[in-house]
Amino acid sequence: MKSYPNTHGLGSVPRHIAVIMDGNGRWAKGRMLARIRGHRRGVESVRTVVRTAGEIGVQYLTLYAFSQENWSRPKSEVEALMRLLEDFLKNEIGELNENNVQLHSIGQIEDLPVRVRKQLDLTRKATSGNTGLKLVLALSYGARREITLAAQQIAREVARGLISPEDVNETLLASHLYTRDYPDPDLIIRTSGELRLSNFLLWQISYAEFVVSPVLWPDFGKEQFLDAVREYGQRQRRFGGVASHAHG
Ligand code: FPP
Repeated sequence: MKSYPNTHGLGSVPRHIAVIMDGNGRWAKGRMLARIRGHRRGVESVRTVVRTAGEIGVQYLTLYAFSQENWSRPKSEVEALMRLLEDFLKNEIGELNENNVQLHSIGQIEDLPVRVRKQLDLTRKATSGNTGLKLVLALSYGARREITLAAQQIAREVARGLISPEDVNETLLASHLYTRDYPDPDLIIRTSGELRLSNFLLWQISYAEFVVSPVLWPDFGKEQFLDAVREYGQRQRRFGGVASHAHG
């Protein structure tokens, strides 16, 4: 599939976009439907956003699909979300391959039901030859736990004498995170108007631009996604410096 960087009057296209997909429950409630109906419609938004991100030349798209905290939702909702995830991973292989998308995941994957883990492996393998967008699903993800696990691993390496405490720096810490193979997000989008990070990528988004859309995730389509990218393109990133010395 061909990509069209810098079309749609976007200005600069972020290399990595991370999305907090919020508002499925409210979308359903507003229609007197069960919450899972909102999640189901949310999958359609996932498909649209993945396709659009690939089209405009985004290289990495990280979606917050299931947080560590989401395990505390009612059992029926958790089970329905797991089924939806498994179905998505199974049914989407054709679409991902057609769009040259490679599937990745971050988070405590071992927490997921075995069926989901197996399908995740299958879909990862089935898309591993694709060279376009890398779609990273955050599953059973929590940023504080990610950083804590990194600290534990580093402490073990120090205890074994493999490294000294002075070797611990930002690069070393980042190399122990789930995201070690990905650049930091340039843009983070949250839907449904909430102004919270919800334990998502706390380390990695230190310098990301934040765009909050009032639109609920099931209503978040191509135009809303492109609007967020346009807003990013209009901002001047200074990384704590001054404009004339900006990195980009
Ligand atoms: C937040 O809405 C959304 C989630 C907890 C799950 C996100 C899941 C999907 C978009 C569908 C499955 C995803 C994939 C990749 C197959 P909410 O339930 O917190 O909404 P609310 O705040 O309005 O209650």
